[in-house]
Amino acid sequence: MKKTLKIAVANIKGGVGKTTAALNIGLAFASLWFNVRFIDLDQQCDLTDFLLGDTQIPTTTLYTSLLSNKYPTVIHNNRENVSFIPGSHRMEEAIQELMIKQGRTMEEYNMGKIDKPFSAIYHVVNILDNISSNDECEIEILDCPPSAGVMVLAGLIHSDFLIIPTQATDFSARQTRNFIKNYVPAIQRINPNFKVMGILINMKRNEISQIKIANKLREEFGELVFNNEITYNASVNSAYHQKMSIFEYQDILPTKNLPDVALYKYLVDEIIDRANLTETAMSKILDFAKSNRQ
Ligand SMILES: Nc1ncnc2c1ncn2[C@@H]1O[C@H](COP(=O)(O)OP(=O)(O)O)[C@@H](O)[C@H]1O
Ligand SMILES: [Mg+2]
Repeated sequence: MKKTLKIAVANIKGGVGKTTAALNIGLAFASLWFNVRFIDLDQQCDLTDFLLGDTQIPTTTLYTSLLSNKYPTVIHNNRENVSFIPGSHRMEEAIQELMIKQGRTMEEYNMGKIDKPFSAIYHVVNILDNISSNDECEIEILDCPPSAGVMVLAGLIHSDFLIIPTQATDFSARQTRNFIKNYVPAIQRINPNFKVMGILINMKRNEISQIKIANKLREEFGELVFNNEITYNASVNSAYHQKMSIFEYQDILPTKNLPDVALYKYLVDEIIDRANLTETAMSKILDFAKSNRQ
């Protein structure tokens, strides 16, 4: 069985475009014939709303699996090569319940306590690891809530790579720094394979203050910042709210060549490069070409 490449998209800060980036990146991989599964760890369920369509939420969700030994049901999206595990609006409630069952309180929770006894996190890691070992999915994308809570830490311990979308604003840059300096090393001690793939400067506006903050992030974090940035662009927003990727959105417009499509394509190329997927991507393209010739 092939190994699933697991990429978490997270930042402590909300509204930095995590869900939008997770969806556009994942759907780009699906269009390159990778088998992609999304996991919605955020109880706001934005990713679930985007992918669910008319499908009913299954009876075994992440919420029920947090409180039982059942694994959540994988839902197939109407897009080819795309499946997902929906989130639940009651996920935080389930975490609280789980901690109370284990005699823990939220006050006790801090980074120093990600150890075996702090088993709420490990319970979630175990659920996620078992989803991954059960099928042929090649790329898993985890959309995380804006926090460094149990779901996020579990998602990171489970993952190979982390993409950190950040806006080029002071608030967002500060939370990105905090995330990298205070949380990433703790995760790496538990999962030595875990790496920050890159900081993604996202929703960047062409304003002097934002250009300065983006440059400062590049000075501070060097190659850890993706070379490719995503700008603030109304069509990314419109596509998202019509439950389409930027690539699908371009297809329904009379004018082709949306600049955002190119930005996302370059970004996905860089992700392929940083994840050492170039060979797999090439062979998929060749397989597709071959099957079309037959
Ligand atoms: N590159 C972009 N340009 C313009 N709007 C964007 C862009 N990326 C995301 N958005 C919009 O910003 C809002 C917040 O994005 P979202 O992905 O939900 O953030 P998060 O998951 O970090 O909370 C959404 O309305 C989304 O459509
Ligand atoms: Mg989100």
